[in-house]
Amino acid sequence: MTDAAQGESPRWTPVGNAADWPAEGAKLVTVGPRKIGVYQHAGAWYALKDMCPHAGVGLSKGPIADKMVMCVGHGWRFNLETGKVLGIPGDWRVGTYPVRVVDGVVEIGV
Ligand code: FES
Repeated sequence: MTDAAQGESPRWTPVGNAADWPAEGAKLVTVGPRKIGVYQHAGAWYALKDMCPHAGVGLSKGPIADKMVMCVGHGWRFNLETGKVLGIPGDWRVGTYPVRVVDGVVEIGV
């Protein structure tokens, strides 16, 4: 489930032009009090809360591969789609948000 409440329509917020994103990479955006990493990877878009639940490092600084971003703090890897951590015991995860691109503008549902 995303941070947007299930069953409610998200409030779509424009965060930039898709053409300004790295083809394989992330940009950090701010929506109100939220810092969100918005990723373009393998032709798809993802948005994750930009704070590792382990020790608070910004996830958008990490490398991306195989639909995962690696935290530069201690190497935990997060699924870009679900926010779940791979290979660590417990239910560690980071919040996710829906993303869409409309007429070249990236929008996040918050
Ligand atoms: S701060 Fe992210 S893995 Fe430790």
